[in-house]
Amino acid sequence: MKLCMIGTGYVGLVSGVCFSDVGNTVYCVDKDQKKIDLLNKGILPIFEPGLDEILKKNFKQKRLIFTTNLKQAVTNSDIIFICVGTPSKKNSNTANLKYVLSVVKDLKKIIKKYKIIITKSTVPLSTGDKIEKILINLKKKKLVDIVSNPEFLREGEAIRDFIYPDRIIIGTDSEKANKTLKSLYLPIIKKTSRYFNTSRRGAELIKYASNAFLATKISFINEIANLCEKADVDIKDISLGMGSDERIGSRFLRAGPAYGGSCFPKDTRALIDTGNKFKTNLSIVKTVVNSNNKRKTLLIKRVERILKGNLSNKIITFLGVTFKPNTDDMREASSIPMIKYLNKKK
Ligand SMILES: NC(=O)c1ccc[n+]([C@@H]2O[C@H](COP(=O)([O-])OP(=O)(O)OC[C@H]3O[C@@H](n4cnc5c(N)ncnc54)[C@H](O)[C@@H]3O)[C@@H](O)[C@H]2O)c1
Repeated sequence: MKLCMIGTGYVGLVSGVCFSDVGNTVYCVDKDQKKIDLLNKGILPIFEPGLDEILKKNFKQKRLIFTTNLKQAVTNSDIIFICVGTPSKKNSNTANLKYVLSVVKDLKKIIKKYKIIITKSTVPLSTGDKIEKILINLKKKKLVDIVSNPEFLREGEAIRDFIYPDRIIIGTDSEKANKTLKSLYLPIIKKTSRYFNTSRRGAELIKYASNAFLATKISFINEIANLCEKADVDIKDISLGMGSDERIGSRFLRAGPAYGGSCFPKDTRALIDTGNKFKTNLSIVKTVVNSNNKRKTLLIKRVERILKGNLSNKIITFLGVTFKPNTDDMREASSIPMIKYLNKKK
């Protein structure tokens, strides 16, 4: 099949490269000329273990095309994945859809033949409806189906997650789009992964609910770690003892600084915002966001305690500053506010 990934960041690049590796021709489009130039020279703009070799192999075999030419890429493709960023709006919980909607407005001018348009970006519940409104004339002429296919890959393990996903969620009521997408994903639907066709709104919400649940697990064990510190108990024993219960599970149950990164912080905030829009109080998610913010302050306090309140003229080393190992992504890393605070005290 011929695919177009719009936005060649962590999600667009990894998905594009992996789709090309199972035999598709993939156009990876980005408006960042520098990024595209690097990729055309075989240089990765991000760090992701294992991506380099798969990219080079498929680029050589001309199954991967890196370009800034959206019109050409869309015209030549059957399926269009929107993979641009959805950060929080400034000083707000709301997800900023300006990148997504700007792509949709461009697509409106380009599309003349049937295409499946997919949001792979994490977008709030009912974004698909908004997109459909913009493309209503194309929809009436049956030239587009708008589908939600959220991505669950984790940075640092993105290739494995994409090739061996736990599940693939396709949110659409179009039989035609669902059939095409099932055959696109067929090579990577393994015994262990499941393919679900849900409503579009359902697919959009599954992504946020999953991220909020994982953030809750992290915050829960971090709060238990706070108690352990006071009560002289090793938190690792608790993680092991709790995680061995299959109903609980051991993943996302290790205490750490505070969750960060390009997804959990903005997605938990956006879910609260969606709750407000639908007049639903998501009190657990609100508490998780507060608890996570407090955890960052708590760790700074611990540094202050160790140094007996005297932070001036001290050299402090952070071993690892990204939000987790095996990524170069610094977005909302919990080290940033800590480093800023400690720097001010010099
Ligand atoms: N990073 C992750 O681990 C991860 C995992 C699952 C889902 N997601 C979601 O996927 C989406 C993308 O995340 P990301 O981390 O890959 O973002 P990113 O910032 O790494 O990449 C986004 C890319 O889109 C490009 N872009 C923006 N507007 C464009 C346009 N009009 N045309 C072409 N390119 C354009 C940017 O230049 C950038 O290269 C977000 O919604 C995110 O929440 C991310």
